[in-house]
Amino acid sequence: MLRLALPFALAAVTRGAFGAPYTPSGGLGFNSTPVYQPMSDFDFQSLALALHQEYIELDLFHHGLAMFSDAEFEAAGLGAHDRFLIEFMADQEVGHATLISNILGPDAAPKQCNYTYPFESVRDFVDFSQKLTRFGESGVYGFLEHLDSRAAASLVLESITTEARQQMIFRQFEGLFPMPEWFIPGITQSMAWTLLAPYITSCPENNTHLAWQNFPALNITNNPNASVLTNETGPAITHNRSTPLSSPGMTVNLTWENPGLAVGPNGSYTTSTSAETPKYVAWISQLNTTFTDLTVAGNNTGTTIQPGGQIFGNNTFSTFNGTIFIMITDDNPYVTPFNLSMLNDHVVAGPAMYQSG
Ligand SMILES: *[C@@H]1O[C@H](CO)[C@@H](O)[C@H](O)[C@H]1NC(C)=O
Ligand SMILES: *[C@@H]1O[C@H](CO)[C@@H](O)[C@H](O)[C@H]1NC(C)=O
Ligand SMILES: *[C@@H]1O[C@H](CO)[C@@H](O)[C@H](O)[C@H]1NC(C)=O
Ligand SMILES: *[C@@H]1O[C@H](CO)[C@@H](O)[C@H](O)[C@H]1NC(C)=O
Ligand SMILES: *[C@@H]1O[C@H](CO)[C@@H](O)[C@H](O)[C@H]1NC(C)=O
Ligand SMILES: *[C@@H]1O[C@H](CO)[C@@H](O)[C@H](O)[C@H]1NC(C)=O
Ligand SMILES: *[C@@H]1O[C@H](CO)[C@@H](O)[C@H](O)[C@H]1NC(C)=O
Ligand SMILES: *[C@@H]1O[C@H](CO)[C@@H](O)[C@H](O)[C@H]1NC(C)=O
Ligand SMILES: *[C@@H]1O[C@H](CO)[C@@H](O)[C@H](O)[C@H]1NC(C)=O
Ligand SMILES: *[C@@H]1O[C@H](CO)[C@@H](O)[C@H](O)[C@H]1NC(C)=O
Ligand SMILES: *[C@@H]1O[C@H](CO)[C@@H](O)[C@H](O)[C@H]1NC(C)=O
Ligand SMILES: *[C@@H]1O[C@H](CO)[C@@H](O)[C@H](O)[C@H]1NC(C)=O
Repeated sequence: MLRLALPFALAAVTRGAFGAPYTPSGGLGFNSTPVYQPMSDFDFQSLALALHQEYIELDLFHHGLAMFSDAEFEAAGLGAHDRFLIEFMADQEVGHATLISNILGPDAAPKQCNYTYPFESVRDFVDFSQKLTRFGESGVYGFLEHLDSRAAASLVLESITTEARQQMIFRQFEGLFPMPEWFIPGITQSMAWTLLAPYITSCPENNTHLAWQNFPALNITNNPNASVLTNETGPAITHNRSTPLSSPGMTVNLTWENPGLAVGPNGSYTTSTSAETPKYVAWISQLNTTFTDLTVAGNNTGTTIQPGGQIFGNNTFSTFNGTIFIMITDDNPYVTPFNLSMLNDHVVAGPAMYQSG
């Protein structure tokens, strides 16, 4: 290894890729003026999806602050300083939405929409925010390295790292361990759009239509629930929770919808699948996509068992912690982070977000 690398290293130090000193050969995108624009339909549609995500976060954080009184926040352990942090996170979203709108161009960029949210308490608002920022984050990781425009990717990267911090802060507000994982997974655009679209009720006329697929909805009917633990673990930088929310071996109960239902803004998208008989549950967590058997119990209902295992083998760290994406599939193809899109054709329903810890 070292013997092979050395001649390259010596050449690079003396000469460099473009004849510049201290510039090793290789790398992409250095010798041209950056163009911060989509360079393909793939780029445009990926960035338009990310913009919808920024808009809903902006709306969500303001909505939570407006929906609950100071006293309700205080009762959940969140004081004035914490509320200012939520307000500041909303401001960050203004910046992110502006950035992506500028990349797409003001005429082509989708406009902000109206939304609906499934929470009625501060704790549930925090829990929903923790999950929504996670699928926003993972949705971008899934496409960033596939963009044709590396220049645009570099700007979006600098937004999404802020979003990752937001996700962790909401976990801390919830009293959960802030980052119970070694890696954060990516998901495909269609997976992210499936998770996001049900919360968008209506968009302005002529808003850009997204090309991504909406898979049928999947519901985990016994999802571990972190927001009922208020008295056990209040907001904190970190908590060693005495009992994990779930453990390997837990039976997970699932129900799912048939395709062909209207979803998303003005009901203008329709759920679909190209998969056949439901057979497996795919667990996307950290670096891994793991399949467990689905036991079909009845019409569009079934169970599976939470898997175990460690990220790099025994005595490293458990693979299935935190918020995990699960889907019902008709097959169990071997996929890794960079070719996860090969799973899209096999999705019967989902993803749903499993709250393992
Ligand atoms: C959003 O909701 C408001 C209040 O109901 C309504 O006036 C407005 O037309 C809606 N906008 C869109 C884009 O659906
Ligand atoms: C969606 O509904 C809203 C509110 O009714 C309306 O203002 C808007 O024009 C509709 N959008 C489309 C694309 O039909
Ligand atoms: C939507 O598009 C139609 C057809 O191009 C146009 O006539 C209409 O004015 C547009 N509406 C808005 C609100 O931009
Ligand atoms: C999912 O299942 C739970 C438990 O049965 C239920 O309370 C909830 O309404 C369901 N959610 C959806 C979106 O159907
Ligand atoms: C989950 O499914 C199992 C097996 O069908 C059933 O015994 C159990 O009551 C279900 N739990 C919930 C919370 O629905
Ligand atoms: C958690 O439990 C609370 C209280 O019962 C409920 O309001 C909330 O919807 C649950 N959250 C999830 C994600 O199931
Ligand atoms: C948490 O504590 C408060 C006040 O001590 C109490 O009113 C509430 O019922 C408790 N909640 C739970 C989920 O135990
Ligand atoms: C926290 O959890 C880890 C892993 O289970 C354990 O090794 C450590 O002793 C715990 N620390 C405290 C302070 O509870
Ligand atoms: C991760 O999951 C394992 C298995 O359920 C559990 O023992 C461990 O406490 C969890 N660790 C963290 C930091 O959440
Ligand atoms: C099966 O369940 C789905 C989803 O709940 C429902 O739409 C469908 O009508 C059910 N089919 C039968 C035969 O009951
Ligand atoms: C997770 O993926 C890593 C890297 O491919 C692999 O070494 C590990 O065995 C996998 N762990 C599980 C539990 O599948
Ligand atoms: C890892 O741990 C499991 C459970 O303790 C054990 O069955 C297995 O043999 C171990 N694997 C290796 C490679 O040591």
